[in-house]
Amino acid sequence: MTERILITGGAGFIGANLAAALVKKPGVDVVIVDDFSFGDWKNLVHVDCEVRAGSITDPALHQEIARGTYSAILHQGAISDTTVLDQRRMLEINTNAFTAMLEASCKSGTRMIYASSAATYGNTPAPNRVGGIEEPANIYGFSKLSMDRIAYRWHDRHPSSVIGLRYFNVYGSGETHKGTTASMMLQLYNQVQDGKRPRLFKHGEQQRDFIYIRDVISANLAALEAPRSGVCNVGSGTARCFNDIILNLETLLNRKLDVDYFDNPYDFYQNHTEADISGTTELLGWKPAWTLEKGMAEYIELLEAGHHEPVETAT
Ligand SMILES: NC(=O)c1ccc[n+]([C@@H]2O[C@H](COP(=O)([O-])OP(=O)(O)OC[C@H]3O[C@@H](n4cnc5c(N)ncnc54)[C@H](O)[C@@H]3O)[C@@H](O)[C@H]2O)c1
Repeated sequence: MTERILITGGAGFIGANLAAALVKKPGVDVVIVDDFSFGDWKNLVHVDCEVRAGSITDPALHQEIARGTYSAILHQGAISDTTVLDQRRMLEINTNAFTAMLEASCKSGTRMIYASSAATYGNTPAPNRVGGIEEPANIYGFSKLSMDRIAYRWHDRHPSSVIGLRYFNVYGSGETHKGTTASMMLQLYNQVQDGKRPRLFKHGEQQRDFIYIRDVISANLAALEAPRSGVCNVGSGTARCFNDIILNLETLLNRKLDVDYFDNPYDFYQNHTEADISGTTELLGWKPAWTLEKGMAEYIELLEAGHHEPVETAT
């Protein structure tokens, strides 16, 4: 039997990578819905799936889900730009659309796996634990926390599983369209390629949990098999600082880099994120397999070869 999987936001970085991985599986048919407000068709050139231009807010899509058209939903569509300040728009696209899709998925018993975020934690002490201190520092993080809160209310009455994946800082091939919101790996690499000094907020010591795209793909595939509902962190479980990215770039590009450190203009900046992934391993049976060194080595090699599409489409 063919499994029909809906990926919202499938022209985006993570959605396109999920699509590229899933179309390789026998018996899986992928349908992508993206409004192309931010994603890029170029991510899908080598991904053989059905692509539809449409919004996650469209009631026709919700009705289709309620009819049981799909066996599972990987919901990635969202305003992913954490600097957008329009509260109403952020909640309408990220939270309201998710609520409508979740309600529809409950009617048909369709498994719902959705992208939450480490932004739900805000600038709280690490390690970040689901159910621990969750104090988002911007409307983006609040929209994601609101999604999780709604999901919890459906756990007991949903016939299938509802799984929220709180991605930490994801990097890897397929994010070129994101520009200034792409990972620091890509932004710093591009600055060096343009002959500029790589720029970091003073003094590059802020710590982040960076997670490679291949680990994000494997977490989603594990969520497709998970036995029950839950919200879990998808991070490496280790915090690394921005200066570590520079050190890895120096090794991979075989040159010394002169960093331009400048003042951080943001007052809502997360200074230290680090995922507690014990609950993720328990629910999904998942563990990250890619260290920062290994993930960056593959990513920079792909960039050097001019590959900007999802990692699974690289030959
Ligand atoms: N990349 C990260 O580090 C990261 C971290 C935490 C959470 N997330 C979440 O993961 C998901 C995917 O992120 P990404 O990095 O691939 O971002 P992305 O911006 O590349 O992908 C999001 C996609 O959603 C689409 N979209 C936006 N509004 C839509 C709408 N109304 N209807 C249909 N499609 C719409 C965009 O066109 C884009 O293709 C998002 O929900 C994001 O909030 C990402």
